[in-house]
Amino acid sequence: MQLNVNGKSYDVDVEPNTPLLWVIREQVGLTGTKYGCGIAECGACTIHLDGAAVRSCAMPVSAAAGKRITTIEGLASGKTLHKVQKAWVDHDVPQCGYCQAGMIMAVAALLQDKPKPTNADINATITNICRCGTFQQVREAIHAAAKA
Ligand code: FES
Ligand code: FES
Repeated sequence: MQLNVNGKSYDVDVEPNTPLLWVIREQVGLTGTKYGCGIAECGACTIHLDGAAVRSCAMPVSAAAGKRITTIEGLASGKTLHKVQKAWVDHDVPQCGYCQAGMIMAVAALLQDKPKPTNADINATITNICRCGTFQQVREAIHAAAKA
């Protein structure tokens, strides 16, 4: 099966029902996308599929064939950070960092849909779990990125 990841084409030899997350990590070799729960609850594995945020642990790889997959490694434009990444750095958001790639991907998709999200929008959409409790900094950084 052929996958398009961050603008590059990859031929992968996997069962169609293999979780997309594992294919991204094991076959494509991009390990920025993390495994947390495996049941679409925590958001650590969030990527973009044709620009929409999806939780890749609970999605069969076959669902991604023919679509544009973007991972955290493909979010920046060359050396220029995405505005969400920049806001994350400016606001010292990450603690251990484990949840953060998924968090950033979810936020980037939110700002695409709603360039000026309210706190209610953020609460409704950014349901990613952070065991380090960075939620306050996440919210501040989202508002900063929305103004950038
Ligand atoms: S690992 Fe996919 S949502 Fe938790
Ligand atoms: S920064 Fe540690 S889990 Fe979120």
